[in-house]
Amino acid sequence: MEVVIVDSPSQVAQEAASRVLDYLHTNPTANIGLATGSTQQGIYQLLIDAYNEGRIDFGKNHFFQLDEYLGVPETSPTSFQHVLKSHFLEHVGVADGVLQVLDGNADDLESECSEFEHAIASAGGIDLQLLGIGRNGHIGFNEPGSAFDSRTRVVELQIETVQSNSHYFESEDRVPRHAITQGLATIMAAKFVLLIATGEAKAPALASMLCSPQSVATPASILQQHPNLIVILDKAAARDLP
Ligand code: GLP
Repeated sequence: MEVVIVDSPSQVAQEAASRVLDYLHTNPTANIGLATGSTQQGIYQLLIDAYNEGRIDFGKNHFFQLDEYLGVPETSPTSFQHVLKSHFLEHVGVADGVLQVLDGNADDLESECSEFEHAIASAGGIDLQLLGIGRNGHIGFNEPGSAFDSRTRVVELQIETVQSNSHYFESEDRVPRHAITQGLATIMAAKFVLLIATGEAKAPALASMLCSPQSVATPASILQQHPNLIVILDKAAARDLP
């Protein structure tokens, strides 16, 4: 594991985008797992800039969604699928369909989850997985208590997550209580994981993830075992690290 601590959120985005670009230059056909969340926005903008400047071509990549709310229309600005398309994929010259979505409106959610796992396997696995972290230590929507051997599935969100994400919605009671997420074992199977976090609110989660014994109470702590993990933090998020 490599932990990189920089001064500011914009430096986190720069360092992370630079690691992604380096990785893609040596792995141009990589399958990429895409996270949503405000922390990721800076990376996506820098990748769009790199594309516009001719420094990267995403034409040979396939993309996989990390997580999604249940019951949010895919055209809603709060849909993670919509965010990934409108804030990134639509700006980097990739065809429709290169994003393997998690459809939170599927009639048969169990089949949706197993088909998603099958799609990852058929593509040869996820090479690069981008991740954020929740204040409660979740990755994707794997809340505290999630099994380390969990795969893609429907989950219930904890109140802390509902509250943290409520600013994206009109009010807290509009935040979905359920989501669909890659499981912890699904995330662990990615060959390279790049997790970023900024701000003091994430500091306790980062300390538990990196410094406490592994526990389902901090789902991100499973990543301590990952053979190829880079964690990029700003000083505020690193506040509680030794
Ligand atoms: C959200 C999402 C995660 C995201 C994390 C951090 O609830 N489920 O995919 O990485 O929490 O989000 P943010 O970057 O907005 O703090």
